[in-house]
Amino acid sequence: MKAVILAGGTGTRLLPLTRILNKHLLPVGRLPMISYSLEKLKEAGITDILIVTSKEAAGMFAEFLGSGREFGVLLTYRIQEDAGGIAQALELAESFVGGERKFIVLLGDNLFEEPLAGHLAAFEKQPEGAMVLLKRVPDPHRYGVPVFGPDGRIERIEEKPPQPQTDFCVTGIYLFDETVFRLIARQEPSKRGELEITDVNNAYASAGLLAHRTMEGWLIDAGTFESLQEASARMMEGAP
Ligand code: G1P
Repeated sequence: MKAVILAGGTGTRLLPLTRILNKHLLPVGRLPMISYSLEKLKEAGITDILIVTSKEAAGMFAEFLGSGREFGVLLTYRIQEDAGGIAQALELAESFVGGERKFIVLLGDNLFEEPLAGHLAAFEKQPEGAMVLLKRVPDPHRYGVPVFGPDGRIERIEEKPPQPQTDFCVTGIYLFDETVFRLIARQEPSKRGELEITDVNNAYASAGLLAHRTMEGWLIDAGTFESLQEASARMMEGAP
């Protein structure tokens, strides 16, 4: 399976740290943030990886990661010209994904403990559609939040709801089949002018094609000062 890491965005919640440095290159423990996504993919046996980032940051990613050889992976880069949302960034992966039927997408600011292998194996068995990974969190209003139907499947996802209906969040780890590109092409920008990943997942959900699994280990969306600090502390714990 191939993987896509989305590492663009403006990182506004981390200004001024992100004024000249892309969020995914900020230090977390002893490494730039992007290193952890690469490690998790490699651990799961995925080495063919696309990084989507902004034109301002691309040079620095290439300088740090190069071809990926030093890290034991093979990297491809794509540039997202303007900040048009997560789904717009994902659209740029179409030619990279090519003939593959299934692939995994990581938001590069999602740092987590659990290995991906079990989830990948479950998705491989799924005949079609997409899968999201959920995690119980104390602050679901910061995230996409699933609403479950009577059969236990996700009926829809609400993006950053003021009154979340469950205490689960949809993590930034997504497994898609190749139909995702058709779904993105049909999407309209949201109120904030972006193509939203939650709308893509909701298109799968309304077709009854959105599966989910739950993550047990810790997971941190390192997009704020507090969570960035927490992520650093976590990563230092396990550091040699
Ligand atoms: C994005 C998604 C949200 C998801 C979150 C995970 O939000 O829109 O549904 O729960 O990532 O980190 P963002 O953190 O970009 O605001």
